[in-house]
Amino acid sequence: METFAVQPRDTTCHTLLYASHHAFRRDLDRLAAAAAAGKGRAAHVRAGWENLKEQIRLHQELQDRWLWPRVERVVARRAERAVLEEMRADHARLAPLVARVDAAMGAGAAGEGGDLRAAVRELREALERHLRHEETSALPLAESVLAEAEWQELAAESRGRCEAGTPMFVPWVVDGIGPVERSRFLTSLPKPLRELNRVMWEPRYRKRRLWSI
Ligand SMILES: [Fe+2]
Repeated sequence: METFAVQPRDTTCHTLLYASHHAFRRDLDRLAAAAAAGKGRAAHVRAGWENLKEQIRLHQELQDRWLWPRVERVVARRAERAVLEEMRADHARLAPLVARVDAAMGAGAAGEGGDLRAAVRELREALERHLRHEETSALPLAESVLAEAEWQELAAESRGRCEAGTPMFVPWVVDGIGPVERSRFLTSLPKPLRELNRVMWEPRYRKRRLWSI
């Protein structure tokens, strides 16, 4: 089981960025396994894919709309700005690969089919490259230039957007992770959110049986 790093000086927003990388990789493994088994169009696999697309979209929106512009305002060197441009370019490159998986699953309007295994492989490779790129360059850059107060401001700015997705996001992140990572992630959240997750979000998420075939 892959683990994700929860940084010691995290705010919730920062923690969520790292935690979601682990969940992206886990879901793409599940999608690849379903495609290899010829079950890519099974109802719960499609539901898992719909959720994964939404999580990718939210993650990119959080970064492109709030995080990278905030970092950009404080970095001075051209090389640092170039890193942020690379992040945006990576995000743009993922869109057609997501659309290709959609088409291969028959999820698009035309239901055109195609080679799902190849489409998933390409998306997985591109997303992995992007996540590594982000983990080794853009996120360390953000950590080095943003003070704790700025992470908190970022969380406040994006709160409306984050809150709407939280009931799905929290159980999605902890889906299938080890007990130590699970406890570490959940204890990084405010207590009321942990309680909501326990009594409502996680039971509801489990009932959806995402990715089961
Ligand atoms: Fe990203």
